[in-house]
Amino acid sequence: MKLAIIGGGSTYTPELVDGFARLRDQLPVEQLALVDPDQERLDAVGAISRRILAKQGHPGEVLATSDVAAGIEGADAVLFQLRVGGQAARNVDETLPLDFCCLGQETTGAGGLAKAMRTVPVVLELAEQVRKHAPNARIVDFTNPVGIVTRALLDAGHDAVGLCNVAIGFQRRFAAAAGVAPEQVALDHVGLNHLTWIRGVRIGGEERLDEIIAEQGAEIAGNLHLPARILTDLHAIPSYYLRYFYEHDAVVQELKTSESRAEKVAAMERRLIEMYNDPSVDEKPQLLAERGGAFYSEAAVELIASLTGPAGTAEGGQHTAEPDVRVVNLRNNGTLPFLSDETVIEVSAEVGPSGIKALPQAPLPAHMRGLIAHVSAYEELALDAAIHGGRDRVVQALLAHPLIGQYDLANRLGDALIAANEKFLPWA
Ligand code: G6P
Ligand code: MN
Repeated sequence: MKLAIIGGGSTYTPELVDGFARLRDQLPVEQLALVDPDQERLDAVGAISRRILAKQGHPGEVLATSDVAAGIEGADAVLFQLRVGGQAARNVDETLPLDFCCLGQETTGAGGLAKAMRTVPVVLELAEQVRKHAPNARIVDFTNPVGIVTRALLDAGHDAVGLCNVAIGFQRRFAAAAGVAPEQVALDHVGLNHLTWIRGVRIGGEERLDEIIAEQGAEIAGNLHLPARILTDLHAIPSYYLRYFYEHDAVVQELKTSESRAEKVAAMERRLIEMYNDPSVDEKPQLLAERGGAFYSEAAVELIASLTGPAGTAEGGQHTAEPDVRVVNLRNNGTLPFLSDETVIEVSAEVGPSGIKALPQAPLPAHMRGLIAHVSAYEELALDAAIHGGRDRVVQALLAHPLIGQYDLANRLGDALIAANEKFLPWA
């Protein structure tokens, strides 16, 4: 199998390569193409990727190239994990909105809109290259904002699915706490990317959410920086990103007085690149664990294996009735009846080579339904702004966002976002 990674020069890539090496039985990667416009990063990341594979006795070959066509040629799957403008642009997403007393975050709120506008046109152009040079490839999108980018890809007719590590992080955590294998844990996970709740946790077929909240609620809430009672009140476990809604003003105050995540990550990246250039380093550095991408390689391997391998086959190749269930971003198509069919949602789905099908969802409580519908309307307008451009569309999207929503604010913030991102916006 040939896999191509667009944005392969990312400092995250060794995490992925380590996953390919560890999980080679699940996904036999013969050729790995790292595609990136940044030659220095490509050299560093390409070199450590080869050393990681060699150390683990993996026969896979690594091609590092800035030639998109050569990299994706004949690929079976193409992963998108790019960041237009790098950490510098992310820093603006995280800091500029704070001057307006709004959340500064790379995927949620105004920062997420700026990121979508910078990213969608680039991703769509690259996806056209995939159509041309690897027409049978499945596209797996990790590029944020995943919900909006996946919708852009699907609207343009690409075979794409969006992926995030939030769900697998919870699944792994619950499995470890229960002392069972991750496959034993099935999540009832629902919402939009970075706007999700876990409403059920089946372990070995038995529903255990209440027990988990009672026994581990305080610790889970502590990790989410939310009050423990919120889990019992919601009767669900919200993702980390819901804190930006439930505690918006407090988060804004915190962010105003702390170093931005982009600055921290930029410093980590400088150290990571040094390590990648050190010929004695032949495994993924411990420092990578400080990034937000925990289990991202496992999520990718599992999903690509389900997409490309025979569905529902267990060890020994025997066909079983159970298809693979993964949490992915896909078209709603009636799953959440209060959203349009075209909306991209993030839920558990059956995944196989012949398609992806969302699992049926029990009716949502009004507080979830309301917030999802609100943010989904914003996402629709954000995509419109990202594709067609124009100040009016930017302001409309901000007006529709539940964390912004005021007319004067949306206008002022919109102007500031456009000015700060001008060089990335083809229309500005
Ligand atoms: C989590 C999210 C990703 C996001 C990442 C940021 O993994 O699911 O969508 O990109 O965190 O991590 P970072 O280390 O860059 O802050
Ligand atoms: Mn994510």
